[in-house]
Formats: sequence, C-alpha cells, structure tokens
Amino acid sequence: MSGEELAREIRHEHEMLAALMQRLHEDLTALRSSWASARDDLRAVLDHLRRHFALEEEGEFMEDVVQRWPHAASHVEALRAEHEQLLREAKRLMETGDRAIEGRLMSAWADECLRLLSAIREHDRKENHLIQEVFCLDVGGGD
Ligand SMILES: [Fe+2]
Ligand SMILES: [Fe+2]
Repeated sequence: MSGEELAREIRHEHEMLAALMQRLHEDLTALRSSWASARDDLRAVLDHLRRHFALEEEGEFMEDVVQRWPHAASHVEALRAEHEQLLREAKRLMETGDRAIEGRLMSAWADECLRLLSAIREHDRKENHLIQEVFCLDVGGGD
C-alpha cells in the first residue's frame, strides 16, 4: 500500500477506534451497572490499538510522511513514541482492571481509563492533522 492509501486507511481506522472508545467511555461513566462490560470494551480498544499502531508503523505511511514533509520527522518520532506509551498504559489498565473490583479502586480505575481515552483522542487528533497537512485528505469526519 502506498503512503496515501495507508493515510486513507488510517483515517478510516480512527473512526472505528473512536466508536470503540465511545462505547468504553459510556460504560465507564455508568460503571456501576456495566463493570464487566467496561473491561470487555477496554480489551476491544486494546486489541484495536495494537492492530492500528502496527498498521501505522509497518507500512510506508510514516516513511512517506517524512519523505513528503521532512520537517515532520520529529513529529513522526514523537507519535511513534506515544504508541508505546499508550499501549503500555492500556495493558496496565487491563491488568489492574482484574484487581479493581469495587469501591474506590474501581472509580480510580475508571478515571485512569478516561485519561487514557483522552490521550488516545489527542494522539489521533495530531495524526489526523498530519495526514491532512501532508496528504491533503479531508479528515474532518462526517463523510
Ligand atoms: Fe498513531
Ligand atoms: Fe492512529
């Protein structure tokens, strides 16, 4: 796949990821009634993230970005580093989710998950912005 095809694919992926994250967000904010479901949703987000980050890193996408826009190299490296941090945090929350069964532990876990979701949204926002700048693809959503 060319960088441009990958950019389209990544844009589509961001929409799917946003839908999964929305589901988790809803479960986290109604945690008492859907605790098991929140953990299932976190697992779905984690599985999707693994695949999604691999798609962004293994294809020619990042190389193509840097080739077209050399001064973006440091942004691309920062995004790559964020992949590792976000995955590490999602895995950690999967593990601690098994132990946070009720009470304060549970709401602290939910808050940490919500912070992770914000961090992923911010990451995707930067990536969509980069795609828009470099490939001139409309990433405004809604199409
Ligand atoms: Fe990414
Ligand atoms: Fe992404």
